Amino acid sequence: MKLAHHLTVQNGHLKISGQDCVALAEKYGTPLYVTSEDRICEQFQSYKKALSARYPKVQVLFAAKANGNLAVMRALAQLGAGADIFSSGELHLALVAGMAPEKLLFNGSSKTPADLKLAVEKGVKVSVDSLDELHQLDAAARQAEKTVKIAFRVNPALEVPTHPKIATGLATSKFGIPHKEIPAAYREALACKNIQPVGIHCHIGSQILDIEPFVRAAEVMVRIAKELTNMGVKLEFIDLGGGLGIPYHHDTDPSPSPEDYAAKVIPFFKAGVEACGITPELWVEPGRSLVADSTILLTRVNSTKSAHKQFANVDAGFNLLIRPAMYDAYHEVIVANKADAPHTTEYTVTGPICETGDILAPDRKLPELAAGDIIAVLDTGAYGFAMSSQYNSRPRCPEVLIRGTQAGLMRRGETVADITATMEHPAWQR
Ligand code: LLP
Repeated sequence: MKLAHHLTVQNGHLKISGQDCVALAEKYGTPLYVTSEDRICEQFQSYKKALSARYPKVQVLFAAKANGNLAVMRALAQLGAGADIFSSGELHLALVAGMAPEKLLFNGSSKTPADLKLAVEKGVKVSVDSLDELHQLDAAARQAEKTVKIAFRVNPALEVPTHPKIATGLATSKFGIPHKEIPAAYREALACKNIQPVGIHCHIGSQILDIEPFVRAAEVMVRIAKELTNMGVKLEFIDLGGGLGIPYHHDTDPSPSPEDYAAKVIPFFKAGVEACGITPELWVEPGRSLVADSTILLTRVNSTKSAHKQFANVDAGFNLLIRPAMYDAYHEVIVANKADAPHTTEYTVTGPICETGDILAPDRKLPELAAGDIIAVLDTGAYGFAMSSQYNSRPRCPEVLIRGTQAGLMRRGETVADITATMEHPAWQR
């Protein structure tokens, strides 16, 4: 199987950034998420380099929903990243991680009055999703005697080749304002006393392996930029969103790079903004393509079973990685302690959750397995831990970060006490 260069096999063991996965599993226990900080930095730099080589003003915002660990966000903050934040919680994380407020875009289709108030107070830009929200934000800014810089989230009505649950720019999706109604929305924003419209924002979907849809999105956005510029809107940024996919099937999926993205998208973008006579900042908001392949989930085989097929029952389930259950997502698996053994037996790797759908990897040819073996589930740095739960009252596992030759916890494992910590007995039970 093709592996990115931070994953290697030595003496039968899988290594991540030079660290032995079996030793990490022994030291920290399983299940365990392990992330290579070096790999995240490398991916960020390749975005920055590919875009900056072709356009003078570029801002890479990390989509914090993909991985909200503070250590991951701090690593990115130190490289100058901003963030796409989708909640007050993510706003808080981004600031604590050291990201500058002016590099944050508060997205979201259903913001609370408290979200809007916080956005005003912290001085972050807001991607406004409806006219109702616009007026609520204007009122919140007036109350605070401030002006808020905004973009509108454009719904570009684009079909994209991805799972329907993660196509976000369809005409029928809940996100954004239909592109035809966008000029009217800006007219309304220009009339708001405490709102300054300075950007446009879109996001067409996630796990898109073809660059073409991003080119179409850029075309829609520069067309809108032209109309808005003619209308007198001074555009400071155009945010093309995230969405670049990664090759979860290592040997067969296309693997579009930031370089491929930039080479195709920027020429359209550049020509479009030049035609408007403006040089706004280009913003992108990648999540998955920055962090997914930096991380593996190590899980131990509790038992094997031969029923109508061979099952490997492991200690991580959809409580820790919901993507296979939720989107039928494919993740490569490697037996970390038998990484160069022949693949002789077909197994379905199943988690410990009380649900038939708790399958991490169906029907995979693997080395013969025994209780105690360690399986690494690859490409789990995006929407992995971030979407985890305590279902079946399972404490969430720890996360380890690796930098150079060092490894350290970036999140301790939860205990049962953490599960009960927020629970209370109502008065009549006390
Ligand atoms: N910006 C906005 C406004 C978004 O809604 C998203 C993702 C991103 C950026 C980042 O997209 P990315 O570069 O990661 O594709 N849980 C799903 C993915 C949901 C994506 C939602 N929005 C999964 O596990 O596949």
